[in-house]
Amino acid sequence: MADIVKIVVQATIAVIAFAAPAFAQSGDAARGQRIFRACAACHSLEPNRNMTGPSLAELWDRKAGGLASFPRYSTALKSSGVTWDDKSLDAWLTDPQHFIPGNQMTFPGIKDARQRADLLAFLKDATQPGHAPAASAQQGNQMGGMMGMGGGAVPNLKTLDPKDRVQSISHCRDTYRVTTTDGKTRDFWERNLRFKTDGGDDGPQKGSPAIVPAGMMGDRADIIFAAPGEISGFISSGC
Ligand code: HEC
Repeated sequence: MADIVKIVVQATIAVIAFAAPAFAQSGDAARGQRIFRACAACHSLEPNRNMTGPSLAELWDRKAGGLASFPRYSTALKSSGVTWDDKSLDAWLTDPQHFIPGNQMTFPGIKDARQRADLLAFLKDATQPGHAPAASAQQGNQMGGMMGMGGGAVPNLKTLDPKDRVQSISHCRDTYRVTTTDGKTRDFWERNLRFKTDGGDDGPQKGSPAIVPAGMMGDRADIIFAAPGEISGFISSGC
């Protein structure tokens, strides 16, 4: 039974692969922009705006692992010898781990050749200088704003409402009490609060950490500081 399924799957893949060259020329950029939502949590199209992954601005003809402002490339990507063009990007997006084993992009790939062609048609234009669509369009239908989980959806933490700005944090037994600048206090089980930093343009002001809901259940949050040195000084102990 399993073998039959395997044969059918392989046959399907073969048909798609056979059809691929026909699609390669005729990607639909509008459809591709929607597919890019799968990338936008980790990749921006603005120059040097790096998130989990490097900015994809000016991607064509770039050496893999070659964006100087991105400090987190894997050795696998940097030493791959790949230069990004229509062909290498198609292979990469089909199956990143197969194309460059050991790279750190946690994305399984897009098996549908048509979808890849659409995505590449979009990217080829949108990665050119000055052609990136507005950030809100890039985020598409991802859960935007404060509920955003991916980097692409994080709000700018310098312009927050008082209710999202942390005034003080105290720790008592297994509980953090978080008071925001609107005067409200909320208790969190200590395992449900995470402390993070963002020293970049979207990060909070120094000494004024932000609180951002995390997860779907409403019981968790991230507190984001401007720098790691702020964290323990901000938290008082006592009940
Ligand atoms: C979960 C986060 C994540 C998602 C989703 C993701 N990527 Fe990536 N991507 C990364 C990371 C991290 C790297 C760097 C990998 C390394 O150094 O090994 C990367 C690297 C790349 C590179 C190489 C860039 C360079 O400068 O060499 C390209 C191209 C790329 N991604 C395109 C895409 C596209 C297109 C999508 C959507 C189909 C996508 N990625 C989805 C995280 C992600």
